[in-house]
Amino acid sequence: MVQAISDINLSDKLIKWFLSNKRDLPWRKTKEPYSVWVSEIILQQTRIETGIKYYYSFIKKYPNVKLLAKSNKQQLLKTWEGLGYYSRALNMHKAAKQVLLNHGGVFPKDYQSLINLPGVGDYTASAISSICNNEKEAVVDGNVLRFISRLLKIDEPINSFKTKKQIKKYLNEKISLKNPGDFNEAIMDFGSTVCKAKKFLCQSCIFSLDCQAHLSNTVKNYPIKSNKIKPVKKEMNYVIIISDDKKIYLNKRSDKGIWKNLFEFFLVKGDPMPITKSMVVKSLSKKFNFNSNKLRLHKSIIHKLSHMDLKINFYMIEVKNNGGKMYDFSSLNEIPFPKPLKVIIDDFV
Ligand code: ADE
Repeated sequence: MVQAISDINLSDKLIKWFLSNKRDLPWRKTKEPYSVWVSEIILQQTRIETGIKYYYSFIKKYPNVKLLAKSNKQQLLKTWEGLGYYSRALNMHKAAKQVLLNHGGVFPKDYQSLINLPGVGDYTASAISSICNNEKEAVVDGNVLRFISRLLKIDEPINSFKTKKQIKKYLNEKISLKNPGDFNEAIMDFGSTVCKAKKFLCQSCIFSLDCQAHLSNTVKNYPIKSNKIKPVKKEMNYVIIISDDKKIYLNKRSDKGIWKNLFEFFLVKGDPMPITKSMVVKSLSKKFNFNSNKLRLHKSIIHKLSHMDLKINFYMIEVKNNGGKMYDFSSLNEIPFPKPLKVIIDDFV
């Protein structure tokens, strides 16, 4: 149960703290919902330093919702390249089109309209509507969950829907009536800079006399998380194919999966794993003319996704150009790739 400790003046204390400790973030210079939406979508699953860099380049290329709605999807994915979770960018594209169609091109700022946009959940709708429209909707992200689970010593897993709902209810009762947006940004900043996951700063914490975990010397035990499912291990094999006239083979992935519509090298398909060098040769020889003695392993990397540890082997070979999907190296700057492939591509351009 989330037990409210009624005498904590959470809102006043947080907002006072925020006034002198607020992080200087570019999207905080505006209350314009389009820019705040862009920042909130980028910041999901992204560290703040990385988020700032992508925010600037995104806003420069797509300064308003109309330009985003009319943008080319491939170029949009190129802007997003390296951030991962590409469905965020594709949902933004869909949402922008919806804003043109249903809201006359004016980006909405009320919770109800926001929550109906593709890719916008309770967290994003609460952040935008509180910051831009003064709505009393508390944000509940990972930083907030950690802070509240320690403050109230919540002995339930914070990754359960039920606990999140209870924390949201608790915070909706505590949120500042005058400045709900400041309250939300304050609590997120507080969680990420003071009530940190490992290096928590209890000595300088303004809640040290309120915090139930601190008072019982158990901060390191919180938050409680239910057993996370172990990531599955998977192996993939790519061949970087360079033709004798110095072009590179690329394939556009289908419209499904986490890398939908992104480009890739020649994928050696096959189960069960692992794939051997002779299987790579066999797969390649169905399409290409090459000297199999020249096939070599270029690099192996581990790419961690939230649900999977992916080992990717990159082979390399030179082939005779057969007129297939061969691209000039100069076009690599315009083509979007999944993050682990981009790292390899960067060696070539
Ligand atoms: N993390 C995500 N959005 C944020 C915001 N608006 N302020 C602070 N941290 C955040």
